[in-house]
Amino acid sequence: GAWPVTLLQQVDSTNAESQRQLATGAKPPFLIIAEQQTAGRGRRGRSWVSPFGENLYYSLVLRITGGMRQIEGLSLVVGLALLHAIRDAGVNDVGLKWPNDLLVNGRKVAGILLELSGDPADVCHVVIGVGVNINMRNVPGDVIDQPWTSIRQVLGEQVDRNRFVDRLNLQLQRYLDSHGRNGFAALRSEWEANHLWQGRAVSLAAGVQSVEGRVLGVDDTGALRLDVDGVEHVFSGGELSLRLR
Ligand code: BTN
Repeated sequence: GAWPVTLLQQVDSTNAESQRQLATGAKPPFLIIAEQQTAGRGRRGRSWVSPFGENLYYSLVLRITGGMRQIEGLSLVVGLALLHAIRDAGVNDVGLKWPNDLLVNGRKVAGILLELSGDPADVCHVVIGVGVNINMRNVPGDVIDQPWTSIRQVLGEQVDRNRFVDRLNLQLQRYLDSHGRNGFAALRSEWEANHLWQGRAVSLAAGVQSVEGRVLGVDDTGALRLDVDGVEHVFSGGELSLRLR
């Protein structure tokens, strides 16, 4: 069914607002979308540039009751749904970068930030934050610290954000349903087929530490499998970041 939506003109962060609504008794599932964020959050403590009226700032809040299996690989599955929504909008060469960046020609077009509360082994809530650069053309002072693009820049024309949200909702329903029934294992090969850095030489950074290896793929929990000097190592965790070597 359709998720109830709250559309806000301005908020600090749709993820933060979702947490506040949960804390004051709101019952998932629900969706919060804003026209502008004043303190948009990215992964690894970064901020997410969120100008008014141009992009999508979207948080879907769900209740998880199926234990760890329903959390494992969840952010990668959201990535697959978002990949298809962006393809449906006409961007053919969009791909995934582990764990959940969406890139077009090496430039980031969308990102995902999952926030969990409660006990993952029992009942918990997950806030699925999705930011998509839809119509953004320039950023004052170019404060984004990584190469970026927008769907509009790729297509060369203005994109209807309402239609994009409809497509994203449909794709998320489809992929979350599959993940809920069969877990990440059944979606793993599809994820790998869309992984831009499959087989590539990379370095994986966790804070000041880093490991160099070759990408083998992901495992059934969504963790990254790297060949490090001929030995397979598996890495998971939201604080990791991948670079090409
Ligand atoms: C990333 O670093 O790639 C994740 C970016 C996630 C941004 C979205 S925008 C909607 C939601 N609210 C936030 O504050 N962050 C996420």
